[in-house]
Amino acid sequence: MAEDHRIDSLPWRYAIVGCGRVGISWARHLAVAGGVPVGFASRRRTSARTAAEAAGGGKVCEVLSALPEADLVLITTPDGQIEAVGRELATTGALAPGTVILHCSGALEADRLAVLREGGAHIGSLHPLQSFAAPALDHNPFEGIVMAGEGDPPALTLAESLTGRLGARFIRLPAGTKGLYHAAAVVASNYLVTLMGGALEMLAVCGLSGRDAFAVLEPLTRGTLDNIGRLGIPKALTGPIARGDAATVEHHCRDLAAQRPALLRFYRVLGEYTLDLTKGRGEIDTKAIEALQSLLADTRESGSNRG
Ligand SMILES: NC(=O)c1ccc[n+]([C@@H]2O[C@H](COP(=O)([O-])OP(=O)(O)OC[C@H]3O[C@@H](n4cnc5c(N)ncnc54)[C@H](OP(=O)(O)O)[C@@H]3O)[C@@H](O)[C@H]2O)c1
Repeated sequence: MAEDHRIDSLPWRYAIVGCGRVGISWARHLAVAGGVPVGFASRRRTSARTAAEAAGGGKVCEVLSALPEADLVLITTPDGQIEAVGRELATTGALAPGTVILHCSGALEADRLAVLREGGAHIGSLHPLQSFAAPALDHNPFEGIVMAGEGDPPALTLAESLTGRLGARFIRLPAGTKGLYHAAAVVASNYLVTLMGGALEMLAVCGLSGRDAFAVLEPLTRGTLDNIGRLGIPKALTGPIARGDAATVEHHCRDLAAQRPALLRFYRVLGEYTLDLTKGRGEIDTKAIEALQSLLADTRESGSNRG
């Protein structure tokens, strides 16, 4: 039976199920951080072998025959497979009580692995806030990032310990909040790309494209990020909506309708949220708020027919 001292001190013996971009990165860097690799399983044997090579040891398993030896099992399959893998692990009956099982999904909670608690395992999720486009072998992709965990306290003790060993910062999420945590990451990262894509498309109409267009926007965007860091939200907000300048917003809507109608809704939806932030500052009068509200809520294709 696993004992408590196993989970908060080195060496952890670890196994990984799902040897893709994240799994192979864990395989390598947990070994570098002092963990002992005991087993790797994946849909394809070759993937499990690649993980074992990256870790410098550990068995390649059809099923996780190495499980009884593991203090920690990381499930790094695609999100849609996590629950099924949890059930499969539970039916093997091979887990020692006290084993910590963590999955790495950003959106799913630990309870997807609840079936494993019946055998005495401690379950959790540990999400590295990093983009793994390929297995990272030559540098530590966990260095300096945040890893968010939730789940059973003993699982979080180990998660926090290994996070520190990898040079990352650990944060604990309250139960029931992972959906919004992950949505926030999507907005800040993926939607930033979308935002810049929309702005670059508008600059293409002005005869600027590619590198030139990006060079025009880059200092503005970086300066805005700096302002958010220094001043916070909504103080960092500038521009026509923050000033209550409905005439300028109407001008934008009119030109977008004429020259890039596909981006008019994009401009208005973001403008509505920007107006909500502006209202929170209490600096523009009711008349300006109403004029802006009406311009931004307009569902017609053109903003030009407003007085
Ligand atoms: N990629 C990222 O940037 C990132 C960042 C943070 C968190 N995550 C999370 O990390 C997890 C893994 O993501 P990933 O990007 O590493 O995915 P991935 O590259 O697609 O790797 C997943 C691996 O799981 C294996 N697999 C699939 N079904 C399986 C099953 N039923 N049993 C055993 N192995 C199975 C696949 O196997 P074979 O190779 O053997 O066919 C594949 O190599 C996900 O939960 C994801 O949300 C990803």
